[in-house]
Amino acid sequence: MQSTRTVADTETETRSGSGSDELIFFVNGKKIVERNADPEMTLLTYLRRKLGLTGTKLGCSEGGCGACTVMLSRYQTHTEQLVHLAVNACLAPLCSLHLVAVTTVEGIGSVARKLHPVQERIAKAHGSQCGFCTPGVVMSMYTLLRNSPAPNMADVGEAFHGNLCRCTGYRPILEGYRTFTTEGGCCGGRGRESGCCLTNGSAQEVDDADMLFNTTTFTTFDPTQEVIFPPELMSLSKGQRSRSLCFRGDQVTWLQPDSLNEFLRLKWKHPNARIVVGNTEVGIEVKFKNMVYPVLLSPSSLPELNSVIRCDDGIAFGAACTLSHMGAVLREAVDTLPPHQTRVFLAVLEQLRWFAGLQIRNVAAVGGNIMTASPISDLNPVFMAAGCRLTLTDRDGSREVRMDDGFFSGYRKTTLRPQEVLLSVHIPYSKETQFVSAFKQSPRREDDISIVTAAMSVTFIPGTDVVEDLRLSYGGMAATTVLAKETANRLLGRSWGEELLQEACSSLAEEMTLDPSAPGGMVTYRRTLTLSLFYKFYLTVLQKLHLQGVRVEEVQTECVSATEVYHPDTPSSVQVFQAVPEGQRQDDVVGRPMMHLSAMKQATGEAVYCDDVPLYENELYLSLITSSKAHARILSVDVSVAERSPGVVCFLFADDIPGSNATGPIEYDETVLADGQVTCVGHIIGAVVADTQLHAQRATKAVKIEYEELQPIVTIQEAIAAQSFYQPIRTIQKGDLEAGFKQADHILEGEIHIGGQEHFYLETNVTLAVPRGEDGEMELFVSTQSASKTQSLVAKALGIPANRVVVRVKRMGGGFGGKESRTTMLSTVVAMAADKLKRPVRCMLDRDEDMLITGGRHPFYGKYKVGFLSSGKVVALDVSYYSNAGNSMDLSLSIMERALFHMENSYSVANVRGRGFLCRTNLPSNTAFRGFGGPQGMMVAESWMSDVAQTLGRSAEEVRRLNLYMEGESTPYNQILDRLTLDRCWDECLSRSEYQQRRAAVDLYNRQNRWTKRGLAVIPTKFGISFTAAFLNQAGALVHIYTDGSVLMAHGGTEMGQGLHTKMVQVASRVLDVPCSKIHISETSTNTVPNTSPTAASASSDLNGAAVQNACDILAKRLEPYKTKNPKGSWEDWVKAAYFDCVNLSANGFYKTPDLGYSFDSNSGRVFNYFSNGVACSEVEVDCLTGAHKNLSTTIVMDVGHSLNPAIDIGQVEGGFMQGLGLFTLEELHYSPRGVLLTRGPGSYKIPAFGDIPARLTVSLLRDAPNDKAIFASKAVGEPPLFLAASVFYAIKDAISAARAESGLSGPFRLDSPASAERIRNACNDRFTKLCPPAEPGTFIPWSVQV
Ligand SMILES: Cc1cc2nc3c(=O)[nH]c(=O)nc-3n(C[C@H](O)[C@H](O)[C@H](O)COP(=O)(O)OP(=O)(O)OC[C@H]3O[C@@H](n4cnc5c(N)ncnc54)[C@H](O)[C@@H]3O)c2cc1C
Ligand code: FES
Ligand code: FES
Repeated sequence: MQSTRTVADTETETRSGSGSDELIFFVNGKKIVERNADPEMTLLTYLRRKLGLTGTKLGCSEGGCGACTVMLSRYQTHTEQLVHLAVNACLAPLCSLHLVAVTTVEGIGSVARKLHPVQERIAKAHGSQCGFCTPGVVMSMYTLLRNSPAPNMADVGEAFHGNLCRCTGYRPILEGYRTFTTEGGCCGGRGRESGCCLTNGSAQEVDDADMLFNTTTFTTFDPTQEVIFPPELMSLSKGQRSRSLCFRGDQVTWLQPDSLNEFLRLKWKHPNARIVVGNTEVGIEVKFKNMVYPVLLSPSSLPELNSVIRCDDGIAFGAACTLSHMGAVLREAVDTLPPHQTRVFLAVLEQLRWFAGLQIRNVAAVGGNIMTASPISDLNPVFMAAGCRLTLTDRDGSREVRMDDGFFSGYRKTTLRPQEVLLSVHIPYSKETQFVSAFKQSPRREDDISIVTAAMSVTFIPGTDVVEDLRLSYGGMAATTVLAKETANRLLGRSWGEELLQEACSSLAEEMTLDPSAPGGMVTYRRTLTLSLFYKFYLTVLQKLHLQGVRVEEVQTECVSATEVYHPDTPSSVQVFQAVPEGQRQDDVVGRPMMHLSAMKQATGEAVYCDDVPLYENELYLSLITSSKAHARILSVDVSVAERSPGVVCFLFADDIPGSNATGPIEYDETVLADGQVTCVGHIIGAVVADTQLHAQRATKAVKIEYEELQPIVTIQEAIAAQSFYQPIRTIQKGDLEAGFKQADHILEGEIHIGGQEHFYLETNVTLAVPRGEDGEMELFVSTQSASKTQSLVAKALGIPANRVVVRVKRMGGGFGGKESRTTMLSTVVAMAADKLKRPVRCMLDRDEDMLITGGRHPFYGKYKVGFLSSGKVVALDVSYYSNAGNSMDLSLSIMERALFHMENSYSVANVRGRGFLCRTNLPSNTAFRGFGGPQGMMVAESWMSDVAQTLGRSAEEVRRLNLYMEGESTPYNQILDRLTLDRCWDECLSRSEYQQRRAAVDLYNRQNRWTKRGLAVIPTKFGISFTAAFLNQAGALVHIYTDGSVLMAHGGTEMGQGLHTKMVQVASRVLDVPCSKIHISETSTNTVPNTSPTAASASSDLNGAAVQNACDILAKRLEPYKTKNPKGSWEDWVKAAYFDCVNLSANGFYKTPDLGYSFDSNSGRVFNYFSNGVACSEVEVDCLTGAHKNLSTTIVMDVGHSLNPAIDIGQVEGGFMQGLGLFTLEELHYSPRGVLLTRGPGSYKIPAFGDIPARLTVSLLRDAPNDKAIFASKAVGEPPLFLAASVFYAIKDAISAARAESGLSGPFRLDSPASAERIRNACNDRFTKLCPPAEPGTFIPWSVQV
């Protein structure tokens, strides 16, 4: 919708009558007077681009990750109070900041000045790995402390509802910040019963050497020392007279009138003007839905829209009241009013608890939620069920309407007239005989949009159980929020009992139907939820009636847990690791929990990521033109409109490539820019280069492409049907399969599909290319795990030798495999543009582009036949793997090979055959992701192992233990297992988790509860370490010692948060025998260490560590004579002496892993250097009615050899585990049947959040397990722990089995991954699921397909 008014027209509405007003605000205490405030600009862009404050990060632009969190402070004249709010700078319009103080991460501390305790503690507690989320986390915590200097852990949890971290697994952040809370905590839960040593009096039992961080080094937190609110702003705020404001930009004008009359007059003149409060809807529409709203109207200065009026029959909130403010008012009312009056308020509060994150609630208005009219609004069902009244007003007067289903006239439409505005919403008090409940079911509990949301209100004839009034309101079941009127009418006058329940359910099943193709999918689940939620309400009301003394059926004790409202447990954790040997010198840091070397800079925002490199003077921005079709011929590309767009400098298409258009990390089977054909949605066709990001992106949208569509292959099943496979099809076979199956007492067949996964590194792909002006030299700053691959593919595309291209990688904001090969797609195009224009060119992909273009973890489909004895011993296995490789090979073959190398997980199977098929489809090429096919390989193994146990009706733990490898046995690829620690990990895990007691307790719980079930599972992992492409197992290092004694080191690995540089410095420090403070790693670059392998396969510490050791050994030997000569001298003395003696103080180190070389043909030769092992035991609780689950506890025992750095290694274990938890229980990519990715940001794709960590988490690094195959007896740790999250999946499956048993179902059943709430609910067959049978497959086109 676009306003027809011109800017000139709107100007006449302003106070001054021409141009823009001055926007006055403060940033970190400094006054800013902006005379050209652009209504289209966000605070984030202003901070980063105009002020150069790059500490605040861009992770998503949609309020979903929290990386951009800043604190806004205002002086409220009516309360005479300062208000501090954490907000998302990516959504905050610059123009909304008049007379606001902005505090960014740079404003509270710096490494040079002094860190704020919030910054210091997250760093020292190891809560910052890649650091890209860290400034946002810091600012959320900082704001919490500004408002509440002594919070509790629940407050901390709530403060982080809007922050995501993809690296740490959250535990260390919480542990660091626990030290600010009333619960305290300083020992990482090492006190008695996993508690804090301070609170349970066991301080003396805690050995400081065993702690990951030492709280005595923390600066004291003194809330009185905080930065003060700028005095000038205080007086400006106090002295401000009401005045209207106008800010005029290129396309948009922001009008902020100072009176309701003016506001209504403007709305009357500009009926299409958008009213903006929090901008959490409008901002998304503008950024992602290409909407342009020429006039924005801000009601922030209008008391009528911002006030709260307490009336006789309820509370009226001005439509612009924020959700946080509304929550605070309602909470106060609940605390002060008689309980029966506030049942509606409690229902609103329950919805608010899970409504977005705090940053959104702090700015989003209640009126915005109502007027957006989203069918999945969380508040509208409550407002409807409660019969709230809305006051609507325009220039001609006001009217009051009741909020019922007549209010919403269609998808995102209401009955408001265009000139009308919503003035206020009146929330009524409840009656004594009225009961109200609200429910929200979403994929993730925290900060997620609903699948189904509901509110129910019933009023009884006083003293009876006879229904007088009933309103059942649902969101997510139609294009608008709806009332189940027919059902409600049928139940009027009925008694609240079993008969009513049955009638309600069958009636709801009829009334709440959904088309099987309905947007959002999950149709069966959504329909079942309408019944299940009603059942919860039914039970809850029964209980309450009973408490009121009304004669009703009593709720059976086994059903009580179905009525419980979820409250998170305060998380507790224990970390166990081996202290360094007695006698190790204090300054020898190997084996000690040293902090990540960049952690402090990351916490202050001073760490420089690729997009933080300051703008070059003549720099340009590039935006990619990508395909909207999965498979098509390109008929024409029309740039005629786009080229007239402001700021456009040039377009790039395939013809512009000076070198080769063929690209790809191994096979050159891809194009740099599509040439006539596109093979996936997101296929890069061309690029636009313009003066700014906004202009480049605007022009991109104006490029018109005509396609001739071809039939796409989207799913694995479609590829199998079409036999669309890449070659070769890999097979590993050992033993005699036929004999094995003959020997078996039982044979079963089964299958499992494992969904893909988006990397969701917080920093998206980014490249800055700078031509050097002579000899075709080009310098690239890239966020990549693969500097050398970037160098060679850029050189290939430009048609120049690799020696003209330097690739620099300072650090990445996360990689996880996603930046191993796919980064070159962007960097090659950016380099081409820079080469063509001879100017620096930059591009950082938006989150939606990154998710669309760069692929992710391969979805896998596994089909198996297993033969086993009655004892449970597996004797034969025939398994086929199919991966969805996408539109190019990329690394898919190596990934499939690793899946096959892990097909038996940790179990010995004598007769085995595994085959791997790579499906060629029209999805963006899938790629490396932590684990690299290993997790998928092992997941299928655990599926058949679970089937075996279920077929035999035996404990899965016993069957797994029985099949576990023993020392000296050999794998299907004939590698003998020596120094096996699986059994030790297994036994320690069982004892630490108190498995047997837990099993008994779980079984008892399940006997006592019908609608919630608990489950328990123990899962091992054996992960092979080495690149399976043997030649990649090499690394180099370059170490210089300068004459002042400082050491500059470079090695082949890149830093993506995993702490590689920190470990390398530890290694160098030991070998050179100098403190870490003297050693510096600046970056990874192709001109220091050439031909590097990607930083991947968990092997970077092993490979680069050995190369660093080699280089440092050489230098140490060269210095040895000077040490001997002057034993009392210092390092600097020896270095100087050597220098004057003309000794080379620079050395190059190299390492290759010995004795590797496997052949698929002969099934012989060593694949892996060694194996990393671990075992996890997890316990969960499943809500069988909704499919939601709680992660109650996880115990992990991991063998990392002699840890180089226990803090970093535990960080990898926990971070990997949480990523696996996302993979197996939460993260779902949805594709349309035509191959369009539907999940393109944190709003629709959910990675684990703070609240998903197991309430009790124990991580123990196996003691006394030196590894003779890697540097200083350590082991690789990056990938192996990820698979341990399968313990949560199988615990869920265990709980579902208990639920199915209630319906008389036993034996194996298929559960695909992830075990989402939908899958869990659908698998718990019961009376409600029976009423909502799924539609016949093939009779409809689903919204999304399993790819
Ligand atoms: C990350 C994220 C998470 C979210 N999570 C949830 C969630 O969990 N549950 C949920 O229900 N929603 C959620 N939302 C949606 C959104 O936050 C809400 O709808 C919010 O209440 C909108 O308020 P706002 O002030 O930001 O609206 P704005 O974007 O400022 O405006 C929204 C719309 O309302 C209109 N409008 C606003 N005020 C008036 C008025 N007084 N009269 C007439 N029209 C008016 C505007 O013109 C505009 O069209 C989420 C959004 C984001 C970005
Ligand atoms: S960048 Fe603002 S929330 Fe993600
Ligand atoms: S440290 Fe949190 S995203 Fe990397």
